[in-house]
Amino acid sequence: MKIFIDTANVEQIREVSGWGILDGVTTNPTLVAKEKMDFETIVRETCAIVDGPISAEAMSTRSEDIVKEARKLASIHKNIVIKIPMTEEGLKATKTLSKEGIKVNMTLVFSPAQALLACKAGARYISPFVGRLDDIGHNGMEVVAQILDIIDNYGFDAEVIVASVRHPGHVVEAAMMGAHIATVPYEVLKKMFKHPLTDQGIDKFLQDWEKVAKR
Ligand code: E4P
Repeated sequence: MKIFIDTANVEQIREVSGWGILDGVTTNPTLVAKEKMDFETIVRETCAIVDGPISAEAMSTRSEDIVKEARKLASIHKNIVIKIPMTEEGLKATKTLSKEGIKVNMTLVFSPAQALLACKAGARYISPFVGRLDDIGHNGMEVVAQILDIIDNYGFDAEVIVASVRHPGHVVEAAMMGAHIATVPYEVLKKMFKHPLTDQGIDKFLQDWEKVAKR
């Protein structure tokens, strides 16, 4: 499974890229708003760090404007993927852009029906937001399983990005059901390292090794 980081913080991207496990990056307007850097600088610096798909969101609402914005963003770097919210106008823009070879990540997907339409419009990535579904009492991972089945049934050329990940359990579930990608916040990636038995084990080995060294 590919692991993306869900952040617009260039330092976090640099650090996690150094771990050797990072395949791509997703950003969104809320994540960008948390940073001091301007959007284009964030996108350019990210492309210089990570050699993989970098999602940048188009914020226009009419399909013609989304297409214009997307072309401009895509011209920044070959790895840019345009994130487009799941709307009627977004679908129209996705169709146009996919014909031009510009990759689209259809975002704010909350149902298998939306995902099916996104696939048919030519979206290369589909982002179901599992955490936000869980937050309202639905089962986000169930929606991921349904979308994976649909992609598999018809051989759509699309990958699922499990998004709105809240904890390592979401990532494990995504991997167990064969989701293509999980986009994971920095704090959750850090938690994925941790296990108390690993820490205890290292402490014990270090103590015992000191005894060996004293011999
Ligand atoms: C996905 O691409 C989004 O940026 C993100 O996963 C949204 O997550 P949130 O629900 O934590 O805002």
